[in-house]
Amino acid sequence: MLNITVAENEAEFDRLMAWRIIGQILHSPRCVIGLSTGFTPANTYQIICDIYKRYPFDTSQVILFNVDELTNLPRSYAGCCYTMIRDQLADALQIPDERFIMPPTMSDDFERECRDFQKALEAKGGIDLQILGLGANGHIGINQPGTAFASETWVSPMDEIFEARVRRETGVAEDYPLGGLTLGIRTIMHSRKIVLIAKGESKAEMVEKMLYGPVTEDVPASVLQLHPNCEFLIDSAAAAKIKERI
Ligand code: GLP
Repeated sequence: MLNITVAENEAEFDRLMAWRIIGQILHSPRCVIGLSTGFTPANTYQIICDIYKRYPFDTSQVILFNVDELTNLPRSYAGCCYTMIRDQLADALQIPDERFIMPPTMSDDFERECRDFQKALEAKGGIDLQILGLGANGHIGINQPGTAFASETWVSPMDEIFEARVRRETGVAEDYPLGGLTLGIRTIMHSRKIVLIAKGESKAEMVEKMLYGPVTEDVPASVLQLHPNCEFLIDSAAAAKIKERI
């Protein structure tokens, strides 16, 4: 039985998602939370910051990280996940770098960075809560269609639309290598709890495939049908094609 929550509108979605994260922290203040970036969680992070400011809760043992990070761009680029999460949430919650586990964006050995990133999470006891956005092509993290379900943390190509946007914003040359260091599918599936978030009508078709299509490496997010503790948090627009089935 899939655990699906459909929020009536965007505001309700943002509020519910904020409480999934705050709830995790209140329930077990010593926890490891994996975040995701992009348009979907942005309002939510603002809500969490507002609530923290008005009613501070204990974040002194919270460990944050982001499910993925861009490679070969300096952190000064505003689109880097480190910078986005710092600006949108980690600073406001007073999480120092010691408790914000992120791979570097520049390195001469990304394979080593992948291993170190994964080991650092394991050393903290593994992931208690992983928030995952949904790519329009079904990707989770930066695991594009075709990624092996057995994948560990690795450097993946970006999807074409996203890569074009990053190139436009950074002005890097066409032949300059860009990619994304991402938790692999297997690593993601080892999280104790996952909340998959999708909002807006542009995600409606993929939401249907993810939930009711075959579990296949062609649709990375479909693997979540097999996770024992995954909640699919979807707003009404993204749920447009599944309403009769839930
Ligand atoms: C990017 C990020 C993902 C994110 C996805 C969806 O690919 N690397 O982590 O989940 O976009 O983003 P949005 O919420 O903007 O649709």
